Amino acid sequence: MNKNLKVIILAAGQGTRMKSKVPKVLHKVLDKTMLDYVIDASLKAGAEDICAVVGHKSMLVRKMIGDRVKYAVQKEQLGTGHAVMQAGDFIGEEGNVLVLCGDTPLIKPETIEKILSFHTEKGNAATGVSFIKEGPKGYGRIIRDEKGDFEKIVEQKDGSATELAVKEVNSGVYIFEAKALKEALSSLKNSNAQGEYYLTDTMELIKNSGKTVGVMTADDESEFLGVNSKLDLSVVTKALVKRINEKHMLNGVTIVNPENTYIGQDAEIEADTIILPGTTIEGKTTIGTDCVIGPNTQIVSSEIKDGVNVKMSVLMNAYVDNYTTVGPFAYLRPGTKIGEHVRIGNFVEIKNSNIDDGTKVSHLTYVGDSDVGKNVNFGCGTVTANYDGVHKYRTTIEDNAFIGCNTNLIAPVKVGENAVTAAGSTINNDVPPHALSIARKRQVNISGWTDKK
Ligand code: UD1
Ligand code: CA
Repeated sequence: MNKNLKVIILAAGQGTRMKSKVPKVLHKVLDKTMLDYVIDASLKAGAEDICAVVGHKSMLVRKMIGDRVKYAVQKEQLGTGHAVMQAGDFIGEEGNVLVLCGDTPLIKPETIEKILSFHTEKGNAATGVSFIKEGPKGYGRIIRDEKGDFEKIVEQKDGSATELAVKEVNSGVYIFEAKALKEALSSLKNSNAQGEYYLTDTMELIKNSGKTVGVMTADDESEFLGVNSKLDLSVVTKALVKRINEKHMLNGVTIVNPENTYIGQDAEIEADTIILPGTTIEGKTTIGTDCVIGPNTQIVSSEIKDGVNVKMSVLMNAYVDNYTTVGPFAYLRPGTKIGEHVRIGNFVEIKNSNIDDGTKVSHLTYVGDSDVGKNVNFGCGTVTANYDGVHKYRTTIEDNAFIGCNTNLIAPVKVGENAVTAAGSTINNDVPPHALSIARKRQVNISGWTDKK
């Protein structure tokens, strides 16, 4: 891979047709913004240095994308060529510059690599990428001479009837020799129907300066689908869902209904795991083998080991070890670490807690900021009172403790190993190991009371 490869991503447009207060490139496809996909594909293809040209709500774009890339600012959106001009310093004089659009999230790293080798093998000063589109309306058309060599790109609004009949369209992906691009940009004009500086015109300028310019025709048009509206966004999302789910199924994961299972690009799932309908898996989640996930489950940035069963539950930044069951209707919040053979049952919420092997938290329980040992049994309705309105405190429950139903554990508090709390107890002092703690009022029975009433 060419170590000099720089990438410019055009991302300054508002995207008027999105009809949104959010800049176009920040719209999400599954769990990531469109711009993130383009950045990730560039990095995977070996890009050394990336510059995003931002404009509309640029501060918001920077905040969302962070310092993974450099930025150039285009104050006024005067066209794609003008956008690239703003990255002039970044372009420099050496090596090649790849230009991508922030609104084409489906581009694959392999395709970027292919474009690069095509460019290098042909010795081109500029290489464009085209595809054949039935109903090419809206795209720039690739105009070739009688020999079939590249001549120019004509935009929809500028084309003659003959030119607009051409079905070979410009994908918006290009690679330029840095020096040739800079020269061409300096003589770019905006004398066209839209009064814009078109990046597409640099191709023609470079050719006319006597250098070689070529166009690579790609076979998979879906990779270059540009998002201009929310309708396009749904089309792209559907295509990505299909691409990702097919990859997992071919790797041995069972996806019962791939049409309503949404798995993010960065999730990893091992073979023989079954994903049931209505499941969403986001972020850098990893799932082991022999798991059953779903139905109707959301898992975000979590690590799930082997043989785990998660049913109708939500997991956020959680770790779940082998052969544990979660749900139905459990909520594992950030900082949750669950051991092996644990049972987290219905209407259980766990936050920032460690639950060790063999423990059962079967129903209607909140465990927050706690360290729970092995083989602990939580009775129904246990609550750790971890927050006094100002500070948060930890609860410690040692191995083999038995927490009776409806126990309140007022932190900081510790229940020793093999200790038992009686049902309905409010525990605010430590319970020594092997002790029984009863902390509730004694029952009083008033005989004949209802008769007198
Ligand atoms: C562009 C191409 C067209 C191609 C199509 C492929 C030009 C003149 N036309 O048209 O040939 O077929 O892409 O999808 O390049 N942007 C800026 N600053 C600007 C204008 C645009 O950063 O001043 C960014 C947008 O945010 C977007 C990208 O450039 O990410 C493409 O702009 P867009 O207006 O969508 O170009 P198209 O009309 O689709
Ligand atoms: Ca576009």
